[in-house]
Amino acid sequence: MSEAGQKKMWGGRFEHAPDKAFYKFECSFDFDRRLLPFELQLDRAWALGLEKINILSAGEKKQIIAALDGIEKRALAEPAWLDASDAEDVHHFVESTLTDMLGPLGKKLHTGRSRNEMVVTEFRMFIKAAAADMRKAVIALIKAFVEQAEWNFGVAMPGMTHMQLAQPILLSHFLLAHAEAFFHDLDRIAFAANTADACPLGVGALAGCAFPIDRRGLAEDLGFARVTRNSLDSVSRRDFALDYLFALSVLSNHLSRLAEDMVLFASPGFGFVTLPDEYSTGSSLMPQKKNPDAWELIRGKSGRVAGAFVSLLVTMKGLPSSYQRDLQEDKEPLFDAHDQTLAMTQIAAGAVSATKFNLANLRKAAEDPALIATEAADYLVAKGIPFRQAHEIIGKMVHDVEGEQQGYAQWPVERLKKYSLSFEADFPEALTVEAALARRQAPGGTAPAAVREAIAEAKAHLAAQEKVA
Ligand code: ARG
Repeated sequence: MSEAGQKKMWGGRFEHAPDKAFYKFECSFDFDRRLLPFELQLDRAWALGLEKINILSAGEKKQIIAALDGIEKRALAEPAWLDASDAEDVHHFVESTLTDMLGPLGKKLHTGRSRNEMVVTEFRMFIKAAAADMRKAVIALIKAFVEQAEWNFGVAMPGMTHMQLAQPILLSHFLLAHAEAFFHDLDRIAFAANTADACPLGVGALAGCAFPIDRRGLAEDLGFARVTRNSLDSVSRRDFALDYLFALSVLSNHLSRLAEDMVLFASPGFGFVTLPDEYSTGSSLMPQKKNPDAWELIRGKSGRVAGAFVSLLVTMKGLPSSYQRDLQEDKEPLFDAHDQTLAMTQIAAGAVSATKFNLANLRKAAEDPALIATEAADYLVAKGIPFRQAHEIIGKMVHDVEGEQQGYAQWPVERLKKYSLSFEADFPEALTVEAALARRQAPGGTAPAAVREAIAEAKAHLAAQEKVA
């Protein structure tokens, strides 16, 4: 049996050592070692808590804290030390190392506490720190959009629905639409961080701590805003992790939509953007290729992040109340989803910033006559024709002009009058891209004045978010 295995946290009532394969199967140290900084923080706070209730003397506490500091130093300086350990999990790793260092005193630290509360406390600490990093990355991404919206202000592009030409919009409006989605992601991330911000430490294995431990003091030491309310609930619940995974799933969904837009816009059929060399790759066979791999990988990885959310959701479904070992399966999907989403967000920010928008191509595409059919119908509405009737009239004109060189904007008034007597010489003026844009002044619309205001609002909103971060 392994050395760590011999110094298990639970050997007394067992006659036989665990099967080797089973021990490997149940160990989580390979991945929960990532919680080591939080474990050590928690251990220091617990030592302090035990001293306050006279379970540890001041001297004992000092010795334990010094040993914990030593573990931290060595772990940082010598990662191979962790690789060599066959501890069951991060909690076992620290306890067995402490015992190696301090003898029987190392065995005192676990008084009154359970790994069930430790693991969930450390997981919450991880998520709070992770959410803070994610916030920063999302803010940088939003900044990249707002900057591009300012740099390219005034440029029109075709707006589409169903991937068909719909109405002209400003490029800046398109860019701010993406920024807007990521603003909502900031709210979801903040919500998850707030759910995680309650400290379970001091709830025991499930029933509460049998020693008069100062739970509020522990929470404060560990940087939590509050303590959890119910001991049984505290060791059972993982909804805070689901909240974070949901926030990541939606964020990565938004990243995937952005990626799909960019892949399309970079394709020869659109030619709206030039892919930055720094975020593209070539083909091993075809010398001409520049591929949007950054965006494709972002789109691809978003499925994996949603998978992590579903994975934990399904793990939780069917569990009874209290701690069950199934809960050990909470960490790997969340760690992976966090790492991937953080990288996706950071790469997206860099790629958006470095993207060159091909303004001439965008303008040319914005002038497609198909984009002003709504303006044509609204022109008739302004002349007093009911909208449904105007829609029908313009529909007929769109049908009849198909295959002709010039659009109906160029028709002589006499020809227009055959469709409606309300057409007059001012018709073409109503059909310019600028006229179409300018009419959409209501807040949230694509009129240049509205978009200029939206940029200012986005900047103010960003500044407020940066203050919180
Ligand atoms: N490694 C476990 C986890 O990740 C924590 C240990 C609790 N184990 C136990 N047998 N109660 O959830």
